[in-house]
Amino acid sequence: MIGAHGHPVDNTAELEGRMSGMVIRGVGSCLPAQRLTNVDLESMMDTTDDWIADRTGIRERRIGGSTSDMAIEASRIAIERSGIDPATIELVVLSTTTPDQQVPATAPTVQAALGLNCGAIDVNAACSGFTYGLIASAGMIALGSGPVLVVGSDALSRITDYHDRGTGILFADGAGAAIVTPVDGPGSLLGWDLGTDGSARGILYADIGSVLKMDGKEVFRRAVRVMASSAENAMQRAGVTIDDISLCIPHQANIRIIDAAIQRLGIPMERTVTNLERVGNTSSGSIPLALDEAVQASRIADGDLVLVCGFGAGMTWASCVLRWGAA
Ligand code: UT7
Repeated sequence: MIGAHGHPVDNTAELEGRMSGMVIRGVGSCLPAQRLTNVDLESMMDTTDDWIADRTGIRERRIGGSTSDMAIEASRIAIERSGIDPATIELVVLSTTTPDQQVPATAPTVQAALGLNCGAIDVNAACSGFTYGLIASAGMIALGSGPVLVVGSDALSRITDYHDRGTGILFADGAGAAIVTPVDGPGSLLGWDLGTDGSARGILYADIGSVLKMDGKEVFRRAVRVMASSAENAMQRAGVTIDDISLCIPHQANIRIIDAAIQRLGIPMERTVTNLERVGNTSSGSIPLALDEAVQASRIADGDLVLVCGFGAGMTWASCVLRWGAA
């Protein structure tokens, strides 16, 4: 390598240091207080509690959060549970489709509120974004980075038309966060898969300043297919099969999508985390919220293999296999 003044620099030691794996040390989440039930929606659009529950599995959701407030609260909890010194955090990766402002990104708001001294970026891969962030954090750690704060936060109620029964029944607000730290050896991330099909961007989108528009049937059809195939790719890369997986954490979009995808994968509902009945579809918040609930409910033990899989607008998809607590 050539140094700043053109002199060769011996950075062999630094490069040799870049062999760390990642491990998740603490998770946290945040939901706004305001409940919006299916019965509430009956007075806002032409729908019924029974229809929504049958066709989506959702009974209520939370609304009224701001992306940064929820991200900050979820991050505070994750940092506290991780036991790390926040001064050691080197990067904030915040996944959101609903940044507080068009410019700047929302990650700097989180960095400032938490008093961190580090880099901070937003990622927009919709509902796949938290998983994109998790996988990217492993790359940063392999490059020698210290702890990374990965957050998923979305205030979808801000861009949802609660008179549109095609979208208003699904979307909601919520956030989750994880502290990812370096460990010697390969770490927790055993396999991963990322994908995009930008030709399908028109099936779920919100124009700037506008609300979400969705071709629900088409999203549904593609979602089942890509969620299963992406999960399979990640497991193949990890060298494991579905029988090795202790717990599957799918994106919480629609219980029928989850049912169909896990059936394809061959994992039973007892080994799958669902919370959409209470929280709806929180996009970037979806997977870390479900992960946090699973951890708090002691559904994950050290050594367990956890399969994370999801899809979102873009169309994007992302999956990974984690060996929990692989320190
Ligand atoms: O993070 C990714 C986000 N997006 C998704 O994951 C969305 C994926 N898609 C879905 O979840 C489903 O397509 C929806 C829940 C959006 C819609 O469910 P569906 O089973 O695909 O309903 P549909 O559009 O095929 O409509 C079936 C019937 C229709 O009536 P007819 O034509 O059979 O008489 C609709 O008009 O249900 C009617 N319908 C409703 N009725 C009551 C559609 N939406 C509603 C509603 N309430 N909200």
